[in-house]
Amino acid sequence: MSILLRAESISKSYGDLQVLKEVSLEVPAGEFLAITGPSGSGKSTLLHILGGLDSADSGQLSFNGQPYPTKSKDIDRFRNRELGFVFQFHHLLPEFTALENICMPGWVGGQSDVEAQAHKWAKAFGIADRLGHLPGALSGGEQQRVAVARALVHQPKLLLADEPSGNLDSQRAEELFQLLQQARNEADLAIVVVTHSEAWAQNADRTLHLSDGAWRD
Ligand SMILES: Nc1ncnc2c1ncn2[C@@H]1O[C@H](COP(=O)(O)OP(=O)(O)OP(=O)(O)O)[C@@H](O)[C@H]1O
Ligand SMILES: [Mg+2]
Repeated sequence: MSILLRAESISKSYGDLQVLKEVSLEVPAGEFLAITGPSGSGKSTLLHILGGLDSADSGQLSFNGQPYPTKSKDIDRFRNRELGFVFQFHHLLPEFTALENICMPGWVGGQSDVEAQAHKWAKAFGIADRLGHLPGALSGGEQQRVAVARALVHQPKLLLADEPSGNLDSQRAEELFQLLQQARNEADLAIVVVTHSEAWAQNADRTLHLSDGAWRD
């Protein structure tokens, strides 16, 4: 498998606090990678850096063999094309229907097949008949599926997820894991997920443990 994402010796401090200490990581195309670790160990910080949402103090990042762009305009474009994000709280727009929420990033990005992609994922995730509803009329699990569909609609190569199951019960969390697996299998997609779930950590292709800003054996 070719390496999709490569991070080398990533360090990051906030003032005196060194949050990441020369963290290196390779994610092959198509991998489902889980990252675990105690609260404050640097997981979200690392994910934000991998996603180009935050910058490292030192270290190198490359995607498909190309260094990450440095200008903010270019990094925005890279992020919008190649990456998808799912967070713990899904931040759906309450005034817009499920379909509109899923399509919004694609519309903003001028994507031509956005509705077709939205319907494809809605069908795959079993929410095709819920698309006309506002988020407030959907269950938590349905809202989470809308958020995952929204993250996939522009066909990213890498999905970054920060505790996406954090506010779901264990059955809903298991369903979400299956959905992400399904998405990974149906699309040309790698997934890096930060999780506190033992089950997710056990079922991912690979799991890495972050402790105090460095990988732990
Ligand atoms: N913008 C910031 N300014 C200052 N300190 C920060 C900032 N962001 C994170 N930190 C600190 O960096 C450390 C790592 O934070 P991070 O959010 O990466 O942890 P985490 O592993 O995701 O934890 P959790 O499991 O609780 O989400 C914490 O001590 C946090 O307080
Ligand atoms: Mg976090």
